[in-house]
Amino acid sequence: MEDLSPRPGDLEPVETASRDEISALQLERMKWSLRHAYDNSSFYRARFDAHGVHPDDLKTLSDLAKFPFTQKTDLRDTYPFGMFATPREQLVRLHASSGTTGKPTVVGYTKRDIDTWAHLVARSMRASGVRAGDIVHVAYGYGLFTGGLGAHYGAEKLGCTVVPVSGGMTERQVTLITDFKPRVIMVTPSYMLSILDECRRVGIDPRDTSLAVGIFGAEPWTNAMRGEIEEAFDMHAVDIYGLSEVMGPGVANECVETKDGLHLWEDHFYPEIIDPQTGAVLPDGEMGELVFTTLTKEGLPIIRYRTRDLTRLLPGTARSMRRMEKITGRSDDMIILRGVNVFPTQIEEQILKCAGLAPHFQIELTRDGRMDAMCVNAEATQAAATEDARKASAKELAHHIKSVIGISTRITVHPPGGAPRSEGKARRVVDNRPKEG
Ligand code: DLL
Repeated sequence: MEDLSPRPGDLEPVETASRDEISALQLERMKWSLRHAYDNSSFYRARFDAHGVHPDDLKTLSDLAKFPFTQKTDLRDTYPFGMFATPREQLVRLHASSGTTGKPTVVGYTKRDIDTWAHLVARSMRASGVRAGDIVHVAYGYGLFTGGLGAHYGAEKLGCTVVPVSGGMTERQVTLITDFKPRVIMVTPSYMLSILDECRRVGIDPRDTSLAVGIFGAEPWTNAMRGEIEEAFDMHAVDIYGLSEVMGPGVANECVETKDGLHLWEDHFYPEIIDPQTGAVLPDGEMGELVFTTLTKEGLPIIRYRTRDLTRLLPGTARSMRRMEKITGRSDDMIILRGVNVFPTQIEEQILKCAGLAPHFQIELTRDGRMDAMCVNAEATQAAATEDARKASAKELAHHIKSVIGISTRITVHPPGGAPRSEGKARRVVDNRPKEG
């Protein structure tokens, strides 16, 4: 694979600023953001007053811990526009996430917010090894989801030629990759696997495609999956993170030259890690729930937003801004099986150790009597598709899961094509346990 390290002059000064410079900038911006939220959003004013805090109480960055958290339910409760801090007329764009229950959460952007977002996606893409002039195939969904339009504006800002394909119609994705010869693809990792299948189905060697960089995010994926995709396509696979409440894609991104976790763009977002049970702020290096405060956002300032994503903060490497480790999973996706906590990413790692298994899978939760049970629906590769080979793979996977994670699972290895496919965010867990009450 090509060496895509940045060339001298490629980086913005803030990407290599000292920690002191970054902290000073954060403090100045945090004061502005708290003040802006308090003065202009009736939601935040009421919340801060009820909590007995005022923006003037913030003298140092660690004073942020005095301020109350916000969470997804706050956006739902104030649906659709109740948390905004600018008059609706100043918003140039709305996005929304559907959510599985209840009302969607709606987010809004001023013109300056959209410019900042495009700037940070462009920075993320540059960190991934993308350059002006590249053709970029965007297969994140366009629409209310922030993936498609977020990637699109960033790619344009960087000076790329964007192909706004959106998700779905996998056959056409492969045709366009073959005909337009993009150097870059932006898509969820699970949908990239569907594109891989389609390449093979129509007899295209994925290693022969023009793709040199893939920027994958919107769902958890492991380093084992990175290895799988890089090997299959002979391309760099880089992780991009974000969430609509905070902005969209481009809150954090890996650097292609190190691939050692995602640098958080700390000049616009202040991260904290908290203990999800007590809410206490944890020191860097400790695993917990990621919390964000926006430092520059106008339309929808977000103060101490609980993401439910679990990770830890690490010192900067390729950039001076801190990194977050690849997300282990969302606390909502954590499965507790006979007292053991399990994340779908842990199952993914074990599946990718088995030579006879394809990277597609879905976990099903059921109840056997009074005990919860977990069934992993895996899929055989073409080369290991016979019944005997599938039985052997199931046994191998059960053994890995038992010895590494410590739980017994039922494994079904389906014939090739038998596990569900993704066109966006994969649905990793299906809960078929009877509802309580
Ligand atoms: O998924 C924004 C996005 C689009 C990010 C395209 C990257 C690429 P939401 O739909 O609001 O926004 O979902 C946000 O997705 O809290 C995480 O749980 C998960 N997520 C996003 N990126 C990653 C990632 C977009 N790189 C939620 N690794 C977040 C793991 C991720 N999980």
